Amino acid sequence: MARNEVSLSVIKADVGGLVGHAGIHPDLVATGEEELESAKAEGRVIDFHVTNCGDDLQLIVSHGHGDNSAEIHGLAWHVFEACTAVAKKLKLYGAGQDLLADAFAGTVRGLGPGVAEMTFVERASEPVVVFMADKTSAGAWNLPLYKMFADPFNTAGLVISLALHDGFKFDVLDVRKNRRMVLSCPEEMYDLLVFIGAPGRYTVQAVYTQDGEIAAASSTERLNLIAGKYVGKDDPVCVVRAQSQFPAVGEVLEPFSFPQIVEGWMRGSHHGPLMPVARKDAQCTRFDGPPRVSALGFQVSDGHLIGPRDLFDDPAWDKTRQECLVLADQLRRHGPFEPHRLPMEEMEYTTLPEVAKRLESRWETAG
Ligand code: 13P
Ligand code: 13P
Ligand code: MG
Ligand code: MG
Repeated sequence: MARNEVSLSVIKADVGGLVGHAGIHPDLVATGEEELESAKAEGRVIDFHVTNCGDDLQLIVSHGHGDNSAEIHGLAWHVFEACTAVAKKLKLYGAGQDLLADAFAGTVRGLGPGVAEMTFVERASEPVVVFMADKTSAGAWNLPLYKMFADPFNTAGLVISLALHDGFKFDVLDVRKNRRMVLSCPEEMYDLLVFIGAPGRYTVQAVYTQDGEIAAASSTERLNLIAGKYVGKDDPVCVVRAQSQFPAVGEVLEPFSFPQIVEGWMRGSHHGPLMPVARKDAQCTRFDGPPRVSALGFQVSDGHLIGPRDLFDDPAWDKTRQECLVLADQLRRHGPFEPHRLPMEEMEYTTLPEVAKRLESRWETAG
């Protein structure tokens, strides 16, 4: 990578919950901080911030190693292993849940953790927002990213600023066929929506300006596809650059004023509203939810992470939260019925097929 570039990696894993899948033990965050502090002292990373959203541990790291660096992914794996050891000692729930491999193998991609990372030349002022979710899956960023970068009813800058007026390019991943397509907005907006409206199958993995500058990156790891069974939800992360040639911070946050219905929640098997919360409220207690999203804002300064600002810690989001609670009630009252419970095809990774199999011999030919 070029000398003046900085990389931002957000790597997350659920390495054990307190209690159940509700939240995290402070010792896990402390262990992550200790490990990254010594990596910083050794000059392996520039700066870091360790936090959690629900039972997921996020390592936010700035460094000079570029995307998909074995050095940084190896460090993250090592930190998660150290945190897993603490989680096992405390017998936290699902200790090491998202570490699906026995050993690190050059990248954490495909081993369980979620990764959102980007490399860029730092601007004169570099505001970034890190989104973290719990109790939902990787496609949950499709709708908010679409609104931020393609919807003029959300992002005024698309209309009124020459810096954004050319629109943005969306890099879409087909998670089942492991293939990608880049679609440019506004001209290919309808084509884009053909795919990203099905977030279980297609995820927006990155957004770029028309001249190829990275604007947003999200984690696309699907735990059930990696493990072949349900081991917990993806609980994805996303990084977005803001201001100037990108949407303003307020335009980046605005999509979350809509209580989007996402998949996840209890046993990863239900639809529920994605509730924007302050860090202090990033724990999932009602029916293991409802799904949460937190947003931390940083100013990147010579690679250092100035902040964070807890961006949903603001009464301006109270009405959305209230709407989420109304929707949560409405969906909960469906109990085991769809559309609260996920459709049968989505349940194939859960324990439901085992139950159905036990009843297999009870079926009789009809008519
Ligand atoms: P920038 O053009 O500096 O990004 O600011 C836009 C703005 O005023 C946000 O409300
Ligand atoms: P997590 O994916 O957050 O571990 O949640 C799993 C679960 O089954 C919640 O009910
Ligand atoms: Mg968990
Ligand atoms: Mg989780």
